[in-house]
Amino acid sequence: MLSGIRATGRLHFGNFLGAVRNFVEHQAEGNRCLYFVADLHTLTTLDDPEELRKNLLEIVTDYLAAGLDPEQSVIYAQSSVPETVELFLYLSMFQPLGDLQRVPTFKDLVKRNPDRVSLGLVSYPVLMAADILGPQATLVPCGEDQVPNVEMARSIARRFNSRFGDVFAEPRMLSEMVKVPGLDGGKMGKSDASNAVDINLPIAEIGNLYKKRGVTDPARRTRTDPGDPYHGCKSVYPVHELITPGEKGNREIAHACQSASIGCGECKTLLIESLASVIEPFQERRRELAKKRDYVEEVLVEGGKTARAMIKETTEQVRDLMGIRQY
Ligand code: ADP
Ligand code: TRP
Repeated sequence: MLSGIRATGRLHFGNFLGAVRNFVEHQAEGNRCLYFVADLHTLTTLDDPEELRKNLLEIVTDYLAAGLDPEQSVIYAQSSVPETVELFLYLSMFQPLGDLQRVPTFKDLVKRNPDRVSLGLVSYPVLMAADILGPQATLVPCGEDQVPNVEMARSIARRFNSRFGDVFAEPRMLSEMVKVPGLDGGKMGKSDASNAVDINLPIAEIGNLYKKRGVTDPARRTRTDPGDPYHGCKSVYPVHELITPGEKGNREIAHACQSASIGCGECKTLLIESLASVIEPFQERRRELAKKRDYVEEVLVEGGKTARAMIKETTEQVRDLMGIRQY
């Protein structure tokens, strides 16, 4: 199992629930897991070297604070494995250019930032294929937006295998369809800072954000109006569903909203309690880890060695099959 996150900034609650919490669960299930920070991919959109270096360590610290354990999972930086970049070049020979230009995330970036369409941006999914195929990952947990990229890694693997025999395992996607709404009810994302909730903010501040800006059912004008938690409430009930223990089974809060036996203010107070029980232990561990930067760096050094050994083996095989002999 393998997944990665780009080092574009601190993690928000959407990344935490939608990605990192699943990473921790898969680790607990006893899978062989590789989790990395895609610092090379970050270069497609970030050109501040100091910020990139800082973000990398921040995200690894978030991984560790969330419960990823370097004794159980391989935790590394993409750039610790130069063979990934070599493999990327070999794989690029198996990827038609036209398909790359049709990837939705690419088209979206071209539209938003036409001046920054680099070769590196077009070939983004091929580097991602090298990330996945290098260590022979069979399962890739990822969000909806990454589906076309993983699909592309699968088709590269198929084309390579049909030419050279069964070299690559064909990776399957593990689509985690959790979509964490931002404060205004749209998808929480880094690109809209006012919508995202930084998981490192003090819980009182997170609480204030939800109190002031969380959007509940607009049709519920007074305390005695019944609410619609499922279709009306934008950013409060959907988060209860994700984190409040038991809610998915017993629907206690949903029923209380539908019968107007609790108001939106009380519902937010309950949400803040649930948020605190998820976020406070994380923040506590993070405070401890922040004092141990050497340890965090050591995790990257060791994880990098392990990942490199795995990826080197595949790359050597591919290099040899394609006729490259290194003298
Ligand atoms: P962002 O959308 O903030 O730029 P990324 O694209 O870097 O975040 O995503 C990193 C990981 O976090 C991906 O696996 C993505 O699916 C997940 N993720 C991001 N935002 C959300 C969200 N609002 N809900 C669920 N998962 C999310
Ligand atoms: N493109 C992914 C994202 O933006 C990050 C990523 C890079 C990744 N390489 C990967 C995810 C390999 C899964 C597998 O979220």
